[in-house]
Amino acid sequence: MNNVFVFLFLFVTLVDIGYGTQRILRSWLNHGCGTICKDKNLTTVYLRADGQNDTLHYLWDFDGNPSVLLALTSQSASMNISWEDFLLKKKNSITFTEEPVYTFGVVFNKIIEFNDTNDTALINIANLLNTNILHPMFFQWDRKTLIQNNEFVTLNMEGNSYNDSIMNISRDGSIKFSLMGFCSLDHSEVMPHMLHTENSTQVDIILDHLQTNKSFSNSRFAIELLVVGEGNPEIPMFINPKKSLDDEHTPGIFEVVEVRTPPYKSMDNYETQGAYLQWRPISYTTMSRNVINSTETMQYPPIKVSNHTSAVANSMLYCYYGDKVDTLLTQRIIVSLGTKGDGFYKRTYYSTWTFLIGYGTPPDEQFSYLVIMIISIGLGLPLIILLGVGLYLCIYKLPKRSGQAYLNQ
Ligand SMILES: *[C@@H]1O[C@H](CO)[C@@H](O)[C@H](O)[C@H]1NC(C)=O
Ligand SMILES: *[C@@H]1O[C@H](CO)[C@@H](O)[C@H](O)[C@H]1NC(C)=O
Ligand SMILES: *[C@@H]1O[C@H](CO)[C@@H](O)[C@H](O)[C@H]1NC(C)=O
Ligand SMILES: *[C@@H]1O[C@H](CO)[C@@H](O)[C@H](O)[C@H]1NC(C)=O
Ligand SMILES: *[C@@H]1O[C@H](CO)[C@@H](O)[C@H](O)[C@H]1NC(C)=O
Ligand SMILES: *[C@@H]1O[C@H](CO)[C@@H](O)[C@H](O)[C@H]1NC(C)=O
Ligand SMILES: *[C@@H]1O[C@H](CO)[C@@H](O)[C@H](O)[C@H]1NC(C)=O
Ligand SMILES: *[C@@H]1O[C@H](CO)[C@@H](O)[C@H](O)[C@H]1NC(C)=O
Ligand SMILES: *[C@@H]1O[C@H](CO)[C@@H](O)[C@H](O)[C@H]1NC(C)=O
Ligand SMILES: *[C@@H]1O[C@H](CO)[C@@H](O)[C@H](O)[C@H]1NC(C)=O
Ligand SMILES: *[C@@H]1O[C@H](CO)[C@@H](O)[C@H](O)[C@H]1NC(C)=O
Repeated sequence: MNNVFVFLFLFVTLVDIGYGTQRILRSWLNHGCGTICKDKNLTTVYLRADGQNDTLHYLWDFDGNPSVLLALTSQSASMNISWEDFLLKKKNSITFTEEPVYTFGVVFNKIIEFNDTNDTALINIANLLNTNILHPMFFQWDRKTLIQNNEFVTLNMEGNSYNDSIMNISRDGSIKFSLMGFCSLDHSEVMPHMLHTENSTQVDIILDHLQTNKSFSNSRFAIELLVVGEGNPEIPMFINPKKSLDDEHTPGIFEVVEVRTPPYKSMDNYETQGAYLQWRPISYTTMSRNVINSTETMQYPPIKVSNHTSAVANSMLYCYYGDKVDTLLTQRIIVSLGTKGDGFYKRTYYSTWTFLIGYGTPPDEQFSYLVIMIISIGLGLPLIILLGVGLYLCIYKLPKRSGQAYLNQ
């Protein structure tokens, strides 16, 4: 039996070494901006992930609606921000020294509150009387922590004091927004322990004691993302809920939802050369993230945007794409938090949603080594016993059986 363990451990170490693909992370806060950004308490993190042959650039920005830009270039390219124009949200204030091979952008566009009259947990955005829209740019965003090293980068932001100066609506409560960049394939430390690759960023959103509309007794929240990418604007992004193999890392959840950009160059490469969003359909309802205190998330078909330019105007994406966005894929993706009979948002006044933004192939959960080991032992032990018994029978019982053979005929 000891030999079996030695073999398994050897196998595990070998596979671990095989996890070669890594990127080296380097990151900067308000890179090259100086005092104007300090005075404005700006948070714009530039993250460079250098691989063997290429570089992924990320920009995480909290001026306007929070947004993430991802760009793939050769290793020699660099990003250049003209800060004065950038702060005025002028187009082309973000440039690269060479044309990126691929770019993708995500805006945290809206928080939609809805009165779930019949407890279906499904939002009807056409029903304006039953919905309220909050714009994340009206929160006051404060930087809580920024951890930077070569293996991961974590930025924790908190939005408070919501004040929509146009509609004159203010709300109590906060939104916690965490962004994480990684250098290799691994599971993230916080529940739901998403599996990420070296090409993905994790976004974690917490709606913490957000004040609900007094006239909505069955309040729930939904989050709307605006996605901009290369691709045919006429083809909707693919939403694909898949069953996953095991729930070892995310107890109780056997599903992953994937959203992928449609093909943009040829049908052959869209599986490896596009972008994706990925999440587990779970929302935790208390700070201690466990399956007992959780509910589900619901996804909807992507929605086309009629005026691309005005859709991105309040975010950093306009600073990069400018009017070019008109010819790009621009769609809205809505995810609502909660499921039938969970007592609505008011039960705990706490909801989370965690998702990945990535380039390339979305990671697939494999059976973990622990599970492989358990299966090996579970199958191996009975097999060894069976073999032993079989051998024993062959050697000691066969002569007798041949003597009785006629009885069985
Ligand atoms: C910047 O942050 C500091 C500390 O959080 C705060 O005192 C100051 O008022 C902020 N300034 C602006 C312009 O928001
Ligand atoms: C890097 O590029 C070279 C040649 O273009 C190729 O042979 C190699 O497989 C690439 N390596 C990776 C990790 O993509
Ligand atoms: C960055 O952009 C500014 C203004 O567009 C330009 O003057 C400067 O040369 C650029 N820097 C690099 C390194 O390209
Ligand atoms: C919200 O839903 C509840 C439950 O059905 C209902 O009593 C209430 O009138 C609704 N509020 C609005 C503004 O429609
Ligand atoms: C709730 O259910 C009632 C009765 O089935 C229906 O008339 C009403 O339109 C539903 N309300 C919503 C908001 O779906
Ligand atoms: C509550 O909802 C109603 C109806 O949609 C809306 O008129 C009102 O402004 C909302 N109040 C707040 C505080 O959002
Ligand atoms: C919201 O903003 C408006 C306009 O800037 C201001 O007059 C109002 O006092 C603010 N409300 C709160 C609650 O801060
Ligand atoms: C904004 O709303 C507050 C209370 O909600 C009210 O006291 C104030 O007069 C309003 N301001 C404007 C400009 O309508
Ligand atoms: C989680 O749910 C259980 C059962 O509903 C409850 O007893 C417990 O207090 C909850 N935990 C937290 C941290 O709220
Ligand atoms: C889109 O919106 C922008 C600004 O909001 C406007 O200037 C432009 O004319 C609009 N384009 C179309 C096609 O409606
Ligand atoms: C990560 O991106 C690189 C860059 O092109 C690509 O070659 C690689 O296959 C991607 N990795 C995954 C797991 O998608």
